[in-house]
Amino acid sequence: MTRLQGKTALITGAARGIGRAFAEAYVREGARVAIADIDIARARETAGQIGPAAIAVELDVTRQDSIDTAVAETVAALGQIDILINNAAIFTAAPLVEIDRADYARTFDINVAGTLFMMQAVARHMIDHGIKGRIINMASQAGRRGEPLVAVYCATKAAVISLTQSAGLNLIAHGINVNAIAPGVVDGEHWDGVDAFFAKYEGKAPGQKKAEVGAGVPYGRMGRAEDLTGMAVFLASDEADYIVAQCYNVDGGQWMS
Ligand SMILES: NC(=O)c1ccc[n+]([C@@H]2O[C@H](COP(=O)([O-])OP(=O)(O)OC[C@H]3O[C@@H](n4cnc5c(N)ncnc54)[C@H](O)[C@@H]3O)[C@@H](O)[C@H]2O)c1
Repeated sequence: MTRLQGKTALITGAARGIGRAFAEAYVREGARVAIADIDIARARETAGQIGPAAIAVELDVTRQDSIDTAVAETVAALGQIDILINNAAIFTAAPLVEIDRADYARTFDINVAGTLFMMQAVARHMIDHGIKGRIINMASQAGRRGEPLVAVYCATKAAVISLTQSAGLNLIAHGINVNAIAPGVVDGEHWDGVDAFFAKYEGKAPGQKKAEVGAGVPYGRMGRAEDLTGMAVFLASDEADYIVAQCYNVDGGQWMS
């Protein structure tokens, strides 16, 4: 299929995990992609494995100079940016009484401010060049309701859903569609970290939380990064032109809204 033939995409946090799967799917659909990540060594490795349609770009979404440079580098290499996926994020967990202010600030800086100011930088580029672009933000089922040990991360993902609504309503006036994807539980290195938090706070054996959440998904297993690529391609395609400011659950039936 070539639903994204000739398109260019900047995907944050694409050195591994879901972002990497998005990059691979976009290239299969005919796009060229910038793998933008704070882990530039891994981003280069990933881009090299994907092939000539992928480039690696160093990006720390918490630094405005880094955002501006990454956008400029991507435009210089790929010509323009048609699609932005705000995928970079970190997870954190702690009982409410143990939440650390520095950890709170860092998580909000990456997950919320990073999403906002990446949208701003790329929207400016799209508006300046008359690009009817697409922006896809990675939310989470964690943004749909709070969880006892996950106050900060859940709040960041609720904020991503809200930012998607406001940006979507604002930018559609320029022909830019902004939408979000809310995954459920997706196996990979991210969830290895989540599992370790629950081992610490709930006294579970390594791997136990993963097994429990997987068994609890109505579909019958945890998600895989590849389960999300269809929605990411669809939202970037011409078929999604009338979809504005929405957040789609792709979670095996975990959440209904
Ligand atoms: N895995 C899940 O179960 C799950 C569920 C719901 C939502 N999500 C969301 O999906 C997205 C991708 O998740 P994943 O599982 O692939 O995560 P991951 O941890 O495997 O990948 C995140 C990537 O972001 C990069 N990154 C971290 N800080 C950065 C920064 N400051 N600037 C630029 N890049 C930075 C990391 O280097 C990494 O490559 C995230 O937004 C996550 O919150 C994941």
